[in-house]
Amino acid sequence: MDSLPEGTPHRRRPRYKGKNPRDFDYKYKEHRPELYPETVDKVIASGKTPAGTHRPILLNEVLHVLRLQPKDVVVDATLGYGGHSCAILPFILPGGRLIGIDSDPVELPKTEFRLRQLGFSPEVFIPCHSNFAALPKILAANELHGADVIIADLGLSSMQLDNPARGFSFKSEGSLDLRMNPSKGVPAWQYLANLDQETIIELLIENADEPHARIIAPILVEDRDRNGLRTTTLLAQSVRRALLTLPKALRELEGDAPIRRVFQAIRIEVNEEFQALQAFLRILPTCLNKAGRVAILTFHSGEDRRVKKSFQQQMRAGIYSATNDEVTRPSLEEIRSNPRATSAKLRWAIKS
Ligand SMILES: C[S@@+](CC[C@H](N)C(=O)[O-])C[C@H]1O[C@@H](n2cnc3c(N)ncnc32)[C@H](O)[C@@H]1O
Repeated sequence: MDSLPEGTPHRRRPRYKGKNPRDFDYKYKEHRPELYPETVDKVIASGKTPAGTHRPILLNEVLHVLRLQPKDVVVDATLGYGGHSCAILPFILPGGRLIGIDSDPVELPKTEFRLRQLGFSPEVFIPCHSNFAALPKILAANELHGADVIIADLGLSSMQLDNPARGFSFKSEGSLDLRMNPSKGVPAWQYLANLDQETIIELLIENADEPHARIIAPILVEDRDRNGLRTTTLLAQSVRRALLTLPKALRELEGDAPIRRVFQAIRIEVNEEFQALQAFLRILPTCLNKAGRVAILTFHSGEDRRVKKSFQQQMRAGIYSATNDEVTRPSLEEIRSNPRATSAKLRWAIKS
């Protein structure tokens, strides 16, 4: 019998009609990869991510640049499903420790449970519910002066994206929440309630390079004032309505990309992602031991620009001794097997 984290209420398994469930909650086999490996293998082979899981991106490339050794102190600043952490941990044993930070209180306990089941004890794997911008405090609380290795894999996990209750995806109906930490701040629909048209245009351009920002923003304001844009579907419909003014050929060429970008832009704002990233990049060198290595995976130009600029500035200041000029990107094979890797870029730096 499989065990669940203590305190998890017993729930009857949801039933579905037919062979291939489409809804997140009905994909119970995918939620339990350890019990249904064949189902999970089939889903992965079809280029998808099994529901409730996440596939680590650029894993071999990340392991290569981190040059892990036994006794290393590692910080995984974005623990997620623990995909990168699980691969890192065997390299730092014996004697190493990994602190896994995540701001998501929904997924973090599940990941902790999974890693404990895999045999990583509290001496070796230390989960931490926090924003990664608080890294200096987290190190101090663990009586550490610095880390040998820091990894950050920015953005959303597949568990967050695929769970309609989190409101991250326009592909399923859900409340327009978009918060990684639902106990902090306000949901996206509430945040949007107070924005004027110009502010929306600015955030669409700044956070997602949205070329149709000036067409989309007035329609969003109109629909918001009419229906509140409280759900993922209402926001997606509003963007689609705005795009009706585009020439048909361009609209078809764009497909769902503008909707994805609008969700991204609002998510970045609601979670204050750029503020957290800027703070993290600033404090990084003080959190690394001498010759410490940092690797950061980004997923859009707003993130990559900031990481590149910070690493280059700190290289010129002599704080880092090396960084990559050319970003590392996923191979075609990885993209084919996991399309969510498509826009990933890896940058790394070494502390002097
Ligand atoms: C792409 S996922 C990481 C996946 C992980 N590398 C793996 O292989 O399973 C990014 C994770 O970072 C978390 N996150 C994003 N911004 C954060 C921040 N500022 N502080 C802490 N966690 C953050 C998200 O909640 C999410 O779980």
